Amino acid sequence: MKMMNYLASIFVAANAMTTAVSANEKVEQVFKNNCASCHGAQLQGAMASSLLDNQWISDGSDDALTKAITHGILDRGMPAFGHALTEETIRTLIVYIRETSYNVDTAKIQTPTLSKQFKTNLHNVNTREVLSTSGIIWAMDFLPDGSLLYTLREGELWLQSPEGKRIKIADTPEVWHRGQGGLLDVLPDPDYEKNGWIYLSYSKKTGQNASGKDIGITAVVRGRIKEGKWTEQQTLFEAPKHTHKNRGWHFGSRFAIDGPYLFFTNGDEGHQDDAQSLKTQNGKVHRIYKDGRIPKDNPFYTQKDSIKTIWTYGNRNPQGLVIHPQTRQVWSTEHGPRGGDELNLITKGVNYGWPKVTYGMNYDGSPITQHTDLPGMQLPVHQWTPSIAVAGMNFYTGKQFKNWQGDLFVGSLAKKQLHRLRIKNNRVIEDEIILKGLGRIRDVVTAPSGELFITINDRKSNQSKVVALSAVK
Ligand code: HEC
Repeated sequence: MKMMNYLASIFVAANAMTTAVSANEKVEQVFKNNCASCHGAQLQGAMASSLLDNQWISDGSDDALTKAITHGILDRGMPAFGHALTEETIRTLIVYIRETSYNVDTAKIQTPTLSKQFKTNLHNVNTREVLSTSGIIWAMDFLPDGSLLYTLREGELWLQSPEGKRIKIADTPEVWHRGQGGLLDVLPDPDYEKNGWIYLSYSKKTGQNASGKDIGITAVVRGRIKEGKWTEQQTLFEAPKHTHKNRGWHFGSRFAIDGPYLFFTNGDEGHQDDAQSLKTQNGKVHRIYKDGRIPKDNPFYTQKDSIKTIWTYGNRNPQGLVIHPQTRQVWSTEHGPRGGDELNLITKGVNYGWPKVTYGMNYDGSPITQHTDLPGMQLPVHQWTPSIAVAGMNFYTGKQFKNWQGDLFVGSLAKKQLHRLRIKNNRVIEDEIILKGLGRIRDVVTAPSGELFITINDRKSNQSKVVALSAVK
């Protein structure tokens, strides 16, 4: 052991001296040039230990690993890289180590077969296919009579009766189906039986930018379904004209309704620095009244030039939003870049930090920032590195799964996972992967039957399904 460390330190002393890293170098290259010789090209260990086995000399926290890389562990033969690598680059190495070890760990999880039982920590579960369609199901929810409403991102709103009869609703708004845009969230009013309102969000083409490229916005409307038609539409939110610049990315957008208030998310539209500006609608969670009026006690209502609907800012692309059934807190899931997906507790006026702070890095492995925390910016309640691509979520409130009461179920696109989070005192104390591999999970809802409904999508075949999870008695 001693001998190995001795040799290793000589080897790297030479290596580190000759390695100059430019600020934007990709993490894969940085690792290859500086670390692979000792830790192995796949991080699996060689002369030095594996970085994938979760066995650490230190407590294994991000801080401890950052310290080890910066200052070295000289008596063991781990050289110091603080002079050769910037803090930002060292941050990308941490993301890379977490990402690689997570991918190795989760690759072992078996995909359940539809209609066959599988086990989780607290329940045995059965699955049942509810419906199958071409296209991307973006959102679903139930009407009080047990019918299922769902949107296809391509621009269609569908209603399936409890008996399984399906109709496409006519006359829904024309959507701009481009990139991540299209028909997005659907939510019936909690007082649907009295007022019949249904809320929709979608991307809408509104013109062209100076270079003649199409641009659009996230629009929010409500309307009623009568005799299979979308009627009486009211526009609830459209950002002011001068802010329109979305070319097809990060529209958001989920709804949540609490009493008279409608919350909705608007992603950063691919213009990340706007998330810190109160003058634009993108990179925010908004709050309006259900009829579109703006509450005067919104946090930036009186601020000059601000968008008055803003409730929180510094949000990247939140695609999950729910109200906690008891506490009435607003919770959101937010897509990070490469690493650093977030679960946030959405609180009035708070800055969630994007892009000044993040646990992630750019998709190409270059750094965004070394900061995961800065004064005045809110840390997430929970973060996922690597990004699982967090999407729709739901607090389970049904009667079937006795041991899942109040747990938060979160869908993931890229990793095709369904997560069960147990939250206590606003902290996540369990994060269990319930199932993996069936498809990209974009939305999760508790059914009136107590089943847990998820949407799954397969990109290659462009097919989506709604699948019901039920408890095995
Ligand atoms: C000369 C060989 C060598 C090189 C090059 C090297 N390491 Fe290490 N590293 C070690 C040794 C030795 C240890 C101590 C663990 C062990 O005994 O294997 C270690 C430990 C670590 C640890 C674990 C800290 C802990 O708490 O357990 C991390 C993280 C780490 N290295 C990251 C890196 C990264 C990132 C690079 C590239 C920037 C790198 N290492 C380059 C030899 C090396």
